[in-house]
Amino acid sequence: MKTVFSGIQPSGTLTLGNYLGAMKHFVEMQNDYHCYFCIVDQHAITVPQDRLKLRQNIKSLAALYIAVGIDPDKSTLFIQSEVPAHAQLGWMMQCVSYIGELERMTQFKDKSTGKEAVSASLLTYPPLMAADILLYQTDIVPVGEDQKQHLELTRDLAERFNKKYNDIFTIPEVKIPKVGARIMSLNDPTKKMSKSNPNEKSYISMLDDEKTIMKKMKSAVTDSDNSVHYDKESKPALANLLSIYSLCSGKSIEEITAMYTGKGYGDFKQDLGEVVVEALRPIQERYYELINSEELDQILDMGQEKANKVAQKMLAKAERAMGLGRKQR
Ligand code: TYM
Repeated sequence: MKTVFSGIQPSGTLTLGNYLGAMKHFVEMQNDYHCYFCIVDQHAITVPQDRLKLRQNIKSLAALYIAVGIDPDKSTLFIQSEVPAHAQLGWMMQCVSYIGELERMTQFKDKSTGKEAVSASLLTYPPLMAADILLYQTDIVPVGEDQKQHLELTRDLAERFNKKYNDIFTIPEVKIPKVGARIMSLNDPTKKMSKSNPNEKSYISMLDDEKTIMKKMKSAVTDSDNSVHYDKESKPALANLLSIYSLCSGKSIEEITAMYTGKGYGDFKQDLGEVVVEALRPIQERYYELINSEELDQILDMGQEKANKVAQKMLAKAERAMGLGRKQR
């Protein structure tokens, strides 16, 4: 069975973009792959975090993983900082990375341009991400479109390591969904939906209540055409809303546009709001059952143990390949 690895940062409540671009697909992959899903808290501290909030966000993300349908008996769910091999291999992967290639990462450029006191870890974030993936002999990494460049770099670093030291790493493939790979902001279809956007109207949080979702959907920007059809080039805002509708309802975009012939954006947005509310309802119900439960800690303890076993072995192999420490007897 092939291995899948993916991670999400615990940096605020997840958005509908995280769900539709990533989490939803994780759930679908569980039956066919050996899956590892990680709460990447060491990635989150590349930008300043409040320590109490970070703790809360870690737990909250763990509960969301389970609430969307990650089954701890099938998949390994764990917290990055509870598996020290990630940081250890992360350092080693930094040693095979070039500053130039790290500076070319668009996420680094976006987060650092024009800012003062940019942390060194924002630059060295991709080698840590590579370590996350390579520790588990990962074959497939399901992510949204924005992580594609990091995955390409991961492949380059793994190939470089294999050539220079020893051929130990599996070269991972990226898997990006056909629809929903880039859910856009509700008030600006040129920007991706992101939890770090200060304008709360730009995103739906996975924990937004019904009233908030309906309000945000009603205020989502569209165009002056008032006709519901899919055209990514000339009607990007509507195309984004149609993708959300399709993914949340399970209906195809053609079916949806057929339902709205002769109707305007008002009806469409009202129904879209309801479709999103219904998609998130069971997730939210399960989330609130789990968030303060012992069950959640037990799942994370189990994940920590399972991940450590696998990661430790791979780390030892990588250390041997590089010649770190003393010769193993
Ligand atoms: P993060 O935490 O920003 O996002 C988690 C996942 O959600 C996807 N995503 C989206 N998909 C569609 N539309 C959007 N608007 C949208 N916003 C986010 C992301 O593509 C991602 O799949 N560096 C990673 C975390 C990470 C990781 C890893 C991922 C660390 N190590 C190893 C895979 C493998 C990140 O910051 O994702």
